[in-house]
Amino acid sequence: MPEQLRYDGRVVVVTGAGAGLGRAYALLFASRGASVVVNDLGSNRHGDGSSTASADAVVQEIRQSGGKAIANYDSVLDGAKIIKTAIETFGRIDVVVNNAGILRDVSFMKMTEAQWDTIHNVHLKGSMKTTQAAWPYFIKQKYGRIILTSSNSGLYGNFGQTNYSSAKLGLVGLANTLAIEGAKKNIYTNVIVPTAGSRLTEDLLPPDFHDQLKPELIAPVVFWLCHENCIENGSIIETALGWAGKCHLVRSSGCVLRQNLSASVTPENVQENWSKVIDMTSAKRFDSIQDVTGEFFGLIENLKNETSSNKTDHVLRSNYNYRDVILYALGVGATVQEPSNIRYLYENADGFAVLPTFYISYAPMGCMSSSILQDALPNTQIDPTRILHGEQYLEVCKQLPTEATVETRFKIQDILDKGKGAVVIIQHDTYNVANEEKLSTGQISIYIIGAGGFQGKRTSTHATSTVDPPGRKPDVTVIQQTNVDQAALYRLNGDYNPLHMDANVAAMAGFKRPILHGLCSLGFSTRHVLQTYAAGDPYLFKAIKVRFAKPVLPGQTLRTDMWRNGNRIHFQTSLVETNIPVITGAYIDLLDVKTEIPRANPCSGKENVQSDAIFTTIGEQVKLNPDQAKKVNAVFLYNITVGGKPVSEWTLDLKNAEVHKGKPKSGKADATLTVEDTDMIEIALGKLNPQLAFMRGKLKITGNIMLTQKLKTLMETNKAKL
Ligand code: NAI
Repeated sequence: MPEQLRYDGRVVVVTGAGAGLGRAYALLFASRGASVVVNDLGSNRHGDGSSTASADAVVQEIRQSGGKAIANYDSVLDGAKIIKTAIETFGRIDVVVNNAGILRDVSFMKMTEAQWDTIHNVHLKGSMKTTQAAWPYFIKQKYGRIILTSSNSGLYGNFGQTNYSSAKLGLVGLANTLAIEGAKKNIYTNVIVPTAGSRLTEDLLPPDFHDQLKPELIAPVVFWLCHENCIENGSIIETALGWAGKCHLVRSSGCVLRQNLSASVTPENVQENWSKVIDMTSAKRFDSIQDVTGEFFGLIENLKNETSSNKTDHVLRSNYNYRDVILYALGVGATVQEPSNIRYLYENADGFAVLPTFYISYAPMGCMSSSILQDALPNTQIDPTRILHGEQYLEVCKQLPTEATVETRFKIQDILDKGKGAVVIIQHDTYNVANEEKLSTGQISIYIIGAGGFQGKRTSTHATSTVDPPGRKPDVTVIQQTNVDQAALYRLNGDYNPLHMDANVAAMAGFKRPILHGLCSLGFSTRHVLQTYAAGDPYLFKAIKVRFAKPVLPGQTLRTDMWRNGNRIHFQTSLVETNIPVITGAYIDLLDVKTEIPRANPCSGKENVQSDAIFTTIGEQVKLNPDQAKKVNAVFLYNITVGGKPVSEWTLDLKNAEVHKGKPKSGKADATLTVEDTDMIEIALGKLNPQLAFMRGKLKITGNIMLTQKLKTLMETNKAKL
């Protein structure tokens, strides 16, 4: 048990202590040894009238319990008199709890100046006057604790309370500065935001709720905040019902509205960037005004760098036509088997279109073919095997033509020192040469291994942040296997880095074999998101942001997990074989969502059955080792379910060494296995023991159960491939 927190020898002033919260505070302080000045004007709820009765009653209650207390009947506007009572009676002052309050609720339309002044006087000016009278004692004794009482009405607003809410938020401002001015002298100021049943709230809250909101549940929080052991300072603590939490202001990471220090900002710049200005997804808190101005100094430096890097713009000019458009689509796994992909693969198809991530391929192309990285890090030997594509952002500004001459302009935005490595952030804007229209804007972050340690800054105000997906299970999942020749195909889009083809170069970079282009996996997931949430309509695509977390080997299977949050589709791409995430913190912003798929339906439709990939892999292995399969000499039918509903059927015809979707061609299976899609994945990956699954009813088997024992060997052989 911790030692009891005490206030022996301490003197506490509680204003408005004749009723409600103040009374509960005074009783608790006195019960733990404090000498308490019970201040209360004894006015009614609206601040009219006065009476000594309420303060006297509380003092009497304290004394009857053996505590020390004195009444004071002054208004908090005469704060000096309240503090004088403390000094004259008890010889010192240690704690001021500014609690007194009244209401004059009225709509803004009808509010009079007197109603404004009365409320501001009691809450804001009264707290200031009482605290200011105690302040010199606090400074002298190098000790003091102050509570200012705010309200949710101040933090969030409340109809009919303009006078009250503004005074209550004024108290937060007062506390912010008192916390700074007092910190060095051990004077700590905090704000309490209570919700309690009292005469102030009796007609505002439903009776049952009002009765639960006991002031005694709030008093211990105020008690702790004022204790000498508590070092909290400058905080806003909200509390009710025996719960407490800290509140603070946060700010979005915002958006720079001009290109460099000499550029001006037009109202149109503001309009264009407004969604970024108000995007709170990477909002953060600042601890001090210095932190805020520090960011502004950094911004000036960045804008200066922009001015100099403007001079070193790099440009890549390219022509493309329908062949390039189709090649890109094939490179990122578009297939005629998926009806919504035909428009990317056939120039005469209805609505033939460019996959919206097409221009993303210009980003690494420009970085590899120009001296931009060398310009960014002039003292570093740029070695292609030491370069990693870290993050990527792309936003489409106009509908992309299916054939054009385009110019992509590259600009170094920031060079970050990450200790072991350096990150170069490069903006790339692609323009239609024919009419100078900006078609897309993007940002590539390149990590250069071993190039850090130059004492540079670690973070950038330019960087577009990744955003983690919601904590819930994915709303929708799409699985697609890449081809063993995927990198060989994708590179024809212009990224000829040998890392993706040459085993020796891959070995030098520390990989077992050549890895797939990160942008190729990105293209797979983009299609998955578009076919799921945009009915395959590329024109609904607005922007994408991803972080490349781990490499993919050509031939591995990608699983795109998706979560919808309004028009933002969060996604994470993982390898089915290892369950390792390869693309993280990713999202696609759509202009609109077009889908038949309900928000939280885990798997629906053919494409979303995860175990399809497992059976495809088993099928490939069976084809490679038909004799081994034939030894089993049995036909198995798998019924795959999602949420108990059948979604897919697979036949393992091991008599004929054949695996195919649907029922056995012979019409008869030796054994039928029914299992949930997710359990099938777990079994195949060796994470769920099939016998255990059977015992627990997760795997249901009809027919010749004994024969299924033989499947174990087959599964084990395939586990290594999964
Ligand atoms: P209450 O009405 O029960 O107690 C307030 C006390 O302050 C009364 O005894 C009143 O006589 C006294 N008082 C009023 N004007 C005074 C003055 N000029 N000088 C000295 N004493 C004066 O109200 P309650 O609910 O206990 O409120 C306490 C504080 O908490 C107030 O500042 C209120 O604004 C604040 N608050 C209360 C909430 C609640 O849910 N009860 C919610 C948010 C804030």
